[in-house]
Amino acid sequence: QRPDPHVVVLFGARGDLARRKLLPGLYRLARASLLPEDFRIIGSGRHAPDGDFAEEVREALDEHAAGDVTEEGWADFAPRLSFVASSADDGGDLAAAVREARAELGDGARTMLYLSVPPSAMRPMVAMLGATGLAQDARVVMEKPFGADLAGARELNAALHEHVAEEDVFRIDHFLGKEAAQGILALRFANGLFEPIWNAEHIASVQIDVPEELGLEGRGSFYEETGAFRDMVVTHLAQMLGFVAMDAPERLDAGALRDAKAAAFAALAPFEPAHAVFGQFEGYRDEAGVEGDSATETFAALRVHSRAPRWAGVPFLLRTGKAMAQTRRTVTLTLREPAHRIFTAGDASAARPNEIVLELTEDPRVAVDLRVKAPGPDLEVTRAPLTLDVQRELDQEGLEAYERLLRDVMLGDQLLFARADEVERLWELAAPLLADPPAPIPYAQGSWGPDEARDLAAPTGWRLPDHD
Ligand code: BG6
Repeated sequence: QRPDPHVVVLFGARGDLARRKLLPGLYRLARASLLPEDFRIIGSGRHAPDGDFAEEVREALDEHAAGDVTEEGWADFAPRLSFVASSADDGGDLAAAVREARAELGDGARTMLYLSVPPSAMRPMVAMLGATGLAQDARVVMEKPFGADLAGARELNAALHEHVAEEDVFRIDHFLGKEAAQGILALRFANGLFEPIWNAEHIASVQIDVPEELGLEGRGSFYEETGAFRDMVVTHLAQMLGFVAMDAPERLDAGALRDAKAAAFAALAPFEPAHAVFGQFEGYRDEAGVEGDSATETFAALRVHSRAPRWAGVPFLLRTGKAMAQTRRTVTLTLREPAHRIFTAGDASAARPNEIVLELTEDPRVAVDLRVKAPGPDLEVTRAPLTLDVQRELDQEGLEAYERLLRDVMLGDQLLFARADEVERLWELAAPLLADPPAPIPYAQGSWGPDEARDLAAPTGWRLPDHD
């Protein structure tokens, strides 16, 4: 299915996300014939480039999509690019350019307004979209964190809804666009194998662990405003928790899926400061754009609980941080021990209970860590993983998260986008923690974060460092 002809307006078109993901994603989609037959991309932002916008885009593609750029592909893509400056106070020229582009594309044309702007710029931009008429008959795409607290999220949603119906709002949480995240749904709800044990009777704990080796990568001022909790936990990690914790949706459509996820969030207990550890990597305060006495956290670890009967007593452990020992995106479900045990562990590894491990990487992997008979004369058990590399097994590659989501917006499919009520509920859950945030504890770069975070995961401990 090819989407209707589109005018795509990228606010923040000269920014990091546009250069790294959005423009390369649009280019690749175009090459794969997954974009509309006819489309225009209007870059926007406060400052027009000195030279040609298309030249800047070409540089971004050469840097971030090098293998995919061909002269033929570029010759088709480049003429569709233009740049019109705009700001929260001034969107007149842009609105005129969009009207003109739509007229060129003809009657069925649609507009996508992609707001890749800092969190503090969201509300004024939304007001501008309303005032200039740009929002009319357009789909609006927003980048997380969708406000900075409950009051801010409610205000932002109310401001949006003044001009745009919820069915035209696409809140991007790109983790939902990852093949592996959708893989969680398939694993759970397309097999008879997992769902029967996906509950407190069989699962002892759940960990959603997303350490990153990367530091700030020049995003100091964004990060100062945001911090690890808002950047990752209340957004990406919470959405993954939603997929892991929710009940089966009635149907696979945006309404039913998001109802099921919202119900999972409704059942979560508020996040307690006493069950959270924040950290800050040593050297953070020397980064460009960061205050010398900054209290922004670059690491967050939390223990949270669901009040749903399915998860009675099961801790959900969430962890993420910058400048850590490894880059991973791992969901681990630790199973309970068999009720009746006849084996003793043949070696130390077999002392660990079974785990279901989901690697939410570009190359999704599912593993079930089993105890098996250790080869040899004794009837002893050891530990071995049953591992499935999905793409390798099927010899097929998936779409990159942003590509998938950009296309979904064009098709008007909200399945993998966060709905207003979900987002407000997550901020409501976060309120106690944000009212009394733990002071960030310094940790060494390249480590697993502050030692204090270990206690949160007792008695099982964090699974990741042991897992390679
Ligand atoms: C972004 C965050 O949303 O996700 C970044 O702002 C983070 O701080 C990134 O590094 C991680 O995404 P991915 O796709 O590399 O796991």
